[in-house]
Amino acid sequence: MSTAPVKVTVTGAAGQIGYALLFRIASGQLLGPDTPVRLSLLEITPALKAAEGTAMELDDCAFPLLAGIDISDDANTAFDGTSVALLVGARPRGPGMERGDLLSANGGIFKPQGEALNKGAADDIRVLVVGNPANTNALIAQSHAPDIPAERFTAMTRLDHNRAVTQIAQKLGVGVSDVHKLTIWGNHSATQYPDLFHAEVGGRSAAEQVEQEWLENTFIPTVAKRGAAIIDARGASSAASAANAAIDHVHTWVHGTPEGDWTSAAIVSDGSYGVPEGLISSFPVTSDGTSWKIVQGLEIDDFSRAKIDASVAELSEEREAVRSLGLI
Ligand code: NAD
Ligand code: LMR
Repeated sequence: MSTAPVKVTVTGAAGQIGYALLFRIASGQLLGPDTPVRLSLLEITPALKAAEGTAMELDDCAFPLLAGIDISDDANTAFDGTSVALLVGARPRGPGMERGDLLSANGGIFKPQGEALNKGAADDIRVLVVGNPANTNALIAQSHAPDIPAERFTAMTRLDHNRAVTQIAQKLGVGVSDVHKLTIWGNHSATQYPDLFHAEVGGRSAAEQVEQEWLENTFIPTVAKRGAAIIDARGASSAASAANAAIDHVHTWVHGTPEGDWTSAAIVSDGSYGVPEGLISSFPVTSDGTSWKIVQGLEIDDFSRAKIDASVAELSEEREAVRSLGLI
């Protein structure tokens, strides 16, 4: 019996991440080998032609799971009936732009997109925001979609998670599959806190297997500043690894986390671990295939508490800034 195609909307489809993402979705890596997908590409008008070029290439791959491609510059059309929305398109920080300008420019994108999702998305909609500042953009979209359960809005910290997994695996000379229970806390920014104290390698605490000096002065800054290091090296921000993390995030959400392990995702806080309710902050999370749950009961020592608090304070400041701009 054939399954009905699932509509997946990608915004910023003609951008770098879009180009690395769409072919993987169409090949079945997002929703699995048994689920046909219908792609909906949302772009701004000047980039529609480039999106059409990408759609031509998608056609030329003859992916058996690709049931069709729609391209639009209208959010209502692009999100109508969609079950998965990957919000990648965002306004990058330009020369001389202050933080407030960036938040305001992105508010102009994520407010109407939240409204369009609220109006037309399918009942089972799941939203992942990739475009920066991802956590606060997700908050803006979520606050304009009152009819969609808030927990369906998430922001991506899986790239930070994957970066942290590789850094500790390389340090300890093990494979990435040997690293478990790693957590990114807070904001997808340089204040994020990659936590090794609850992470396990070979069944033992990862933190106990490294020097505190390496953890503080190499591991944390390497992970937290990796985005900037990639921009410096490539002359453009991470694209294939960001697309890979978006695939991982949605795949885990839909298929569930392995028994006894967790991952990291920025989801709406319910007040756990002292993170103010309503902020979209990264936590240790599990998925049962339907919804994310924050892993409870972890002991947080003073070192971790200070790091989590600093990143969460930044998220609170961003929330205040968009509130004062009338964006939420
Ligand atoms: P890009 O500039 O190559 O592409 C962005 C695309 O978005 C462009 O094609 C642009 O036309 C489109 N766009 C702009 N406004 C839009 C709108 N209102 N509707 C639809 N499309 C719109 O950028 P990229 O390298 O693909 O990165 C996209 C975003 O992802 C950036 O904000 C980047 O900072 C962010 N990013 C996040 C992470 C993360 O881990 N969360 C990692 C890497 C990059
Ligand atoms: C990343 O983490 O690679 C990006 O968020 C960096 C950026 O500013 O686009």
